[in-house]
Amino acid sequence: MLDKARVDRVHRQFEEAGQGHILYFWDSLSLAEQESFLEQLESIDPNVLNSILDHAMAASRNKSYFNNLTPLESESVRSVSKATREELQTWERLGLEAIEHQHVAVLLMAGGQGTRLGSKLPKGCFQGLGLPSRKTLFQIQAERILKLQQLATELLAKDTGRPQPKTIVVPWIIMTSQATRRVTESFLKDNAYFGLDPQHVIFFDQGVIPCFDSHGKLLLHSKHMLATAPNGNGGLYWALHKEGILDELERRGVQYVHSFSVDNILTKIADPVGIGYAIQTQADVMAKVVPKRMPEEPLGVICRLAGKIKVVEYSELDPSLAALQDPQTGELVYNAGYICNQVCSLKFLRRLPKILEDREQNILTHHVAWKKIPFVDTNNHHPQGAPEHLTVPDRPNGVKLEMFVFDVFPLAERFSCLQVPRSEEFSPVKNARGLDSPETARRDLEKLHVRWIEQAGGRVVRGNVVQSEERMNRTEDNLEEEPLGFELSPAISLAGEGLEWARDKKIPATSIETLDDVVL
Ligand code: UD1
Repeated sequence: MLDKARVDRVHRQFEEAGQGHILYFWDSLSLAEQESFLEQLESIDPNVLNSILDHAMAASRNKSYFNNLTPLESESVRSVSKATREELQTWERLGLEAIEHQHVAVLLMAGGQGTRLGSKLPKGCFQGLGLPSRKTLFQIQAERILKLQQLATELLAKDTGRPQPKTIVVPWIIMTSQATRRVTESFLKDNAYFGLDPQHVIFFDQGVIPCFDSHGKLLLHSKHMLATAPNGNGGLYWALHKEGILDELERRGVQYVHSFSVDNILTKIADPVGIGYAIQTQADVMAKVVPKRMPEEPLGVICRLAGKIKVVEYSELDPSLAALQDPQTGELVYNAGYICNQVCSLKFLRRLPKILEDREQNILTHHVAWKKIPFVDTNNHHPQGAPEHLTVPDRPNGVKLEMFVFDVFPLAERFSCLQVPRSEEFSPVKNARGLDSPETARRDLEKLHVRWIEQAGGRVVRGNVVQSEERMNRTEDNLEEEPLGFELSPAISLAGEGLEWARDKKIPATSIETLDDVVL
């Protein structure tokens, strides 16, 4: 029997907040259902939720801030391709030292559902990338971390003159959501973490937030459960604190956290150059950008709002601003395309929960996403009636509220921005076909690997035909008919290093996992 006072309190709270409809089925629920529903409801303050929705709706309608928006001035963006060799070496050295001292952790945001790709699996486990090695994004990332640890350990041996120093660890923190946790965890476990030590693979869940219908009413997912959705990748900061991850990182002596999205096949994980640049600029946050390809490209842009750093998401940027061009250079004015890849200092991450708690600041205003949300329609059910029927809408019927990972950037006391070459660092898998699809990601990875071989003085050959990068560019349009099938495992090279063996050699266009695969 449930405590009546407890039940009444919760019922009253939801009724007074105008959300009493969610209790429509209450009397028909079993005791266990009532108990679990009550627990869910007690974890929520409906008044706070209503106000989050109101703020989010008002923000989504407010376009006046566009008047105060200015592009990020070019002096605020350093470019890897324009940096001198000395600068790059300095940044790389600083980054490698931080990795050697185990001051660096990497954080993968893997709570998204990847619906655009048309797969029900979390993106990291998606089997349809079609790489010659048949690897998934999770496997590629794990192998890159493994290789990085090995390179850093070797460097430590060289630096200290000790042949067998301790193994350098770069902890892999994985943020999942209710929607992705179970599958992600078992996928990595079933694959023995692709060689990583599970002690250093740490999962945590971001939060969820209830969904609303178009009239601001909470939606039910079942008779005794609210419809909820992951609260966006900006849920990261609060969850890091609540799930004890910040304490764990502190315990491990971590000072810098490199966070990135799951879908970019070219992510340089814990890239020493990027980390070194963040260290040298003493940045709370250092974000990587690429120039946008075209106004409609779905990339957030880093700019300034009344002088402060602001990232405007692609879905929110006014199309006329997105299309503005510099008459002299022909480049887009809002051109600093955010690639969801940043280094944050642990000090900054530690400061955030306190700041975020202070609702007055209202920093993480939620963003509104209209979606098709399956729901139990109280209008079509008798409260005591037959088992529930889930209505699956065929057009957006409600809103999911999301926080964005970049909305804390204005809180950084020092912010820096590094423009990186797209061909080396950014090729995301977003869509099933066309731009930003498995096909383009596969092609971009191949191109990069062919280039590394050529820079090392070798040639990639299929049969007797040389697959130069120039030729690959020519065949860009019909790659589907003509896949090259060349791929280098991270175990062979992480960023083009260690390929001296390729000099003056013809390398077969296959997947190369070990040097035994190459008949030299
Ligand atoms: C994201 C960026 C966009 C950037 C683009 C680059 C945000 C809000 N937008 O857009 O500015 O230009 O990447 O590719 O970051 N995720 C979670 N939990 C969630 C939602 C998402 O962990 O609740 C993760 C996803 O798994 C993914 C990353 O966050 O790894 C980015 O999310 P995604 O939905 O792919 O963002 P985009 O719309 O592509």
